[in-house]
Amino acid sequence: MDSINAALDTSGSAKKLTIRKPSSLDGMALNQLVSECPPLDPNSAYCNLLQCHHFNETAAAAFEGEKMVGFISGYILPAAPNTLFVWQIAVHSSARGCGLAGRMLEAILEREALAGVSFIQTTISPGNEASQAVFRKLANKRDTHIRSEMLFGKDTHFNGAHDDELLFTVGPF
Ligand SMILES: CC(C)(COP(=O)(O)OP(=O)(O)OC[C@H]1O[C@@H](n2cnc3c(N)ncnc32)[C@H](O)[C@@H]1OP(=O)(O)O)[C@@H](O)C(=O)NCCC(=O)NCCS
Repeated sequence: MDSINAALDTSGSAKKLTIRKPSSLDGMALNQLVSECPPLDPNSAYCNLLQCHHFNETAAAAFEGEKMVGFISGYILPAAPNTLFVWQIAVHSSARGCGLAGRMLEAILEREALAGVSFIQTTISPGNEASQAVFRKLANKRDTHIRSEMLFGKDTHFNGAHDDELLFTVGPF
């Protein structure tokens, strides 16, 4: 378990956050957190359980006390074992702007099981500046490259019902 001080509470003192691998018991808290973090697409409770259970090695959950305030879900690309694909990042509005998303990414990358990972990929909508900042900062910190290209198009893939999703690639580490 990783422990960090981040975010200031209303009295101005640092809140203590802990980061750990999730378990299946965290599935419903993840479901709730995602519902409170637009523009993230909600997933079924069953999908969130699988993210926490089968994919816990490539996920991180952050807590303030008992309350989940951050989560990263991801998996290793089946066709590219050196690439971690980040599915979703959610940080509760009460914990934003303190680098928690980047800290959770680092917590995943530091794991023994991911020693072979040298790239991170994710998709981000063009207008999501906060999310793009997270991956730019990771690239800067690791002194590596970041590039983006179209992956899923609004009309081509979503029948106009969802923004474009650009594929961002960070690496090599
Ligand atoms: C995107 C998100 C995960 C970033 O998490 P975070 O832990 O706040 O990340 P950071 O602290 O590194 O801040 C990232 C950027 O958010 C913006 N930001 C700063 N303070 C903020 C605040 N209080 N509230 C919202 N955004 C803030 C800044 O642009 C910052 O970039 P900068 O540090 O270069 O100025 C979080 O904003 C979130 O959950 N958003 C809603 C869901 C979402 O869009 N997920 C990503 C989908 S691809």
